[in-house]
Amino acid sequence: MPRPRVFVTRHIFPEALDAIRKKAQVDLWEDELPPSRATLLEKIKGVDGVLCLLTEVVDAEFMDAAGPQLKVISQIAVGHNNIDVAEATRRGIPVGYTPDVLTQTTADFTFALLMASARRVVEGHEFVRTGKWRTWHPLHFLGQDIYGATLGIVGMGRIGFEVARRATGFGMKVLYYDSIRKRELEVQVPMSPVDMDTLLHESDFITLHTALTKETHHLMSDAQFAKMKKTAILINAARGPVVDPKALYRALKEGKIGGAALDVTEPEPIPVDDPLLKLDNCLIVPHIASASVATRREMSRLAAQNLINGLEKRPLEKCVNPEVYEKT
Ligand code: GLV
Repeated sequence: MPRPRVFVTRHIFPEALDAIRKKAQVDLWEDELPPSRATLLEKIKGVDGVLCLLTEVVDAEFMDAAGPQLKVISQIAVGHNNIDVAEATRRGIPVGYTPDVLTQTTADFTFALLMASARRVVEGHEFVRTGKWRTWHPLHFLGQDIYGATLGIVGMGRIGFEVARRATGFGMKVLYYDSIRKRELEVQVPMSPVDMDTLLHESDFITLHTALTKETHHLMSDAQFAKMKKTAILINAARGPVVDPKALYRALKEGKIGGAALDVTEPEPIPVDDPLLKLDNCLIVPHIASASVATRREMSRLAAQNLINGLEKRPLEKCVNPEVYEKT
């Protein structure tokens, strides 16, 4: 039997690559930047499996280009809005992803964004670095208190819940909005389910933890910003397009809200001349919420294992569309 062929669209942890190499012939895309669409479609021709990132659009055209022998798509991320999962399911192709292993790390980072923006950490650092610090001043760098503040969580999934748990340690009051009430979580951490308008009106911090879907695209836009407190801070560690960036700019510039801290943007990467980057009250980092050594190592392992299981026709450890197994 010839060894299966796989395309891996970026470097991952070496031990995970080694594990794949023991089972398959690996074509690894070595560049830091993603392959062009044309190159990607060429590279995947005839492969049995693909290990991909959120930068690759995996749609019907992609699956056609790969061919009918494609057995598995393994994404190294929990979000999978770049993949047409319904199309993969129609073709009986399991889609792997990396939930759970990044939950705590992403919740930690959400808090890092919250605290950094509330207390103007990056602005302060720039002030020192550029030689502007001349004295201690009672009115310098005044921010927002975290203890005692109200946190509104949009999307009470795995990450949203871990953010809620952290918030109670800081003495915050937690509100959440989700299309499904999570009573089983409310008994573990004190938090109140509310409608979106109440969350917008009452929260001092609003943090987004929802998947990007048609329904959540530009969920935060002019109408929502208009309902927020003038001092409120928005945190987005979910997906960029959940926030309308032009509306966010207007809200920040016109003082409708107090600040924003974004791990994700629309588009990604955000162009260096984007007006959001000119604002002192908008903190932007390059989509790094899950980027701890241990978590990225575990994401690499899991993505590699999902790929290997798919090649060997075994159920994936973490599968987005387990219904493919009901069809066979
Ligand atoms: C990263 O954004 C992920 O979805 O894991």
